[in-house]
Amino acid sequence: MSDGPSWSDIAEWYDELLLAGSGPHETALACTLRLLGQLDGSAVLDLACSQGVASRAIAEAGADTVVGVDSSPQMLANARRHGSPDTLRYVEDDAQQLRHFDDETFDAVSCQLGLMDIPDLSATLVAVHRVLRPSGRFVFVIGHPCFLTPEAKTLIGEDGRAGRWIPDYFDERFWRSTNPQGVRRAGNHHRTLATYLNHLSQAHFVLEHAEEPRASQLLAQQQPEYAGVPIFFAARARKATSG
Ligand SMILES: C[S@@+](CC[C@H](N)C(=O)[O-])C[C@H]1O[C@@H](n2cnc3c(N)ncnc32)[C@H](O)[C@@H]1O
Repeated sequence: MSDGPSWSDIAEWYDELLLAGSGPHETALACTLRLLGQLDGSAVLDLACSQGVASRAIAEAGADTVVGVDSSPQMLANARRHGSPDTLRYVEDDAQQLRHFDDETFDAVSCQLGLMDIPDLSATLVAVHRVLRPSGRFVFVIGHPCFLTPEAKTLIGEDGRAGRWIPDYFDERFWRSTNPQGVRRAGNHHRTLATYLNHLSQAHFVLEHAEEPRASQLLAQQQPEYAGVPIFFAARARKATSG
């Protein structure tokens, strides 16, 4: 996973991208909050929180306590710089272990645009399952595995409409975007949709609701190709009582 920038290397750039107004984030955040549902009285862990965009929104939406977790100190420094209500704190930890947290601590875990960036999906889901209370919910939004594959391109069809060209869906691998302005230059683990869903059930989660959110107005303006196909796949899964 070397030969390219780390998340810490691009932390300043990432913060500026979000501050300038990111259509993908606007779309993802609305979806994360929708899937989390009622937050009053809840303890929430926001996994792979980066500069805290979702953590802050979850705290503002009424969660009792929110902990934003990320493995990049630079991302967390930016998160703290944005300020936070008393109900929100940040912790540096690895999503694949969550060593700082006891079993059955949280009512909900969110992970917005993070699972594709973490190498061991299985270990991450085991850790999320462990820190959730019985019947707790896990909400995640990922780059759509069917349309954001490593070699996917946007092409214009004969009718003038933009669409995605997907030559390599089945080839699961770690890759880096060569686009100097691409988030995925920090690396991305391409997995099929079936791999995500099967790992979820192997980790004793039950899928409750799935979404392929439509592009927000800003996203449709910034990247018109995602007006016609979903940029994200999202789901809410429950910790199975017997798991
Ligand atoms: C695309 S970014 C940001 C996602 C953020 N939730 C958002 O919506 O802006 C992915 C984040 O995952 C973090 N990350 C990558 N591997 C991680 C790991 N093993 N444990 C915790 N965080 C990790 C990176 O440091 C980075 O901040």
